[in-house]
Amino acid sequence: NLPNRVTIIEVGPRDGLQNEKLLVPTHIKKQFISALKDAGIQEMELTSFVSPKWVPQMSDAAEIVADSSDDQVRNIVLAPNRKGIDRVYTTNCKAVAVFVGVSNSFNLKNINKTTQDSMTELKPIIHELKEKNYSVRACISTAFYCPYEGRIEESDTLKLCREFVDAGVDELSVADTIGMASPTESYSLFSKLKEEFSHTLLTAHFHDTRKLGLANILAALQAGINRFDSSAGGLGGCPFAPGASGNTATEDVVYMLERMGIETGIDLHKLMSAIEIVRPYVSRKIESGYYRLYAQN
Ligand code: HMG
Ligand code: MG
Repeated sequence: NLPNRVTIIEVGPRDGLQNEKLLVPTHIKKQFISALKDAGIQEMELTSFVSPKWVPQMSDAAEIVADSSDDQVRNIVLAPNRKGIDRVYTTNCKAVAVFVGVSNSFNLKNINKTTQDSMTELKPIIHELKEKNYSVRACISTAFYCPYEGRIEESDTLKLCREFVDAGVDELSVADTIGMASPTESYSLFSKLKEEFSHTLLTAHFHDTRKLGLANILAALQAGINRFDSSAGGLGGCPFAPGASGNTATEDVVYMLERMGIETGIDLHKLMSAIEIVRPYVSRKIESGYYRLYAQN
């Protein structure tokens, strides 16, 4: 009962680059985004409207989205608060991702607010976004483990998801921020999400810190999930989650799915060309299995 087709939400330009030590030039980011679209990416997190003091790498957000409205791709931008949303309103972006941690300690480090204070701020914002016909995605961080609090109770994650669904979001992207979930835990949580939130787009977001990303994706697939966040080249990580490494690499996910007969619509060869655009500008070595083989040939 696996799906015939899976949607990949490419998060490389946002999650992939937010943690880089050196600033990637804006025109290189734009070339990267455009090459990813050319490779067949249909949904993508382009950037985030966060504080440039907190995350200098995303300070060119307005420029990144300046000419990104005239295509068929769902261009998503992140915003953590009212100030971020007001910045989004000055652009053509029509899909917004808000983000909150299940873990209060993580949320304080990431957004400087308790989880509940973030929710109090975000609920009317979500309502407003829906009234203005925006598509709203909620990213749920530390859904399995927190770098500060350890294991997170499934019931706490489900409760936060419920609050977002009740507030009217279209999509939940549920994240293993520090790549610590096991396939058993992935299957268990995504089965429950699938059962409870049958009218919400459900997406799994795995970081590959312990190289369990693909196994966790397979487990989530078996639980009925058909949307996955991943990052070209396996770049990424949250600057406020110590120990977080990159997302599961898009090329490894696509390769696995295509070998299983599951369509993604993504051209691996063109995806390699997209990676080659940013590779000289990132400090991280590209270590995905698929890229290593490609680079040897
Ligand atoms: P704060 O310092 O508490 O903000 O930061 P504040 O409200 O006190 O305002 C301080 C100053 O920042 C003011 O400017 C504001 O205008 C400005 P000043 O008066 O001093 O000149 N400011 C902003 N500027 C631009 N854009 C904004 C904004 N908001 C305030 N949106 C804040 C609070 C939320 C801003 C900060 O903590 C922040 O930017 N955090 C974002 C952290 C982040 O980007 N983390 C990574 C993304 S989440 C992630 O990676 C996880 C995910 O991948 C899933 C997973 O793997 O878990 C999604
Ligand atoms: Mg992430």
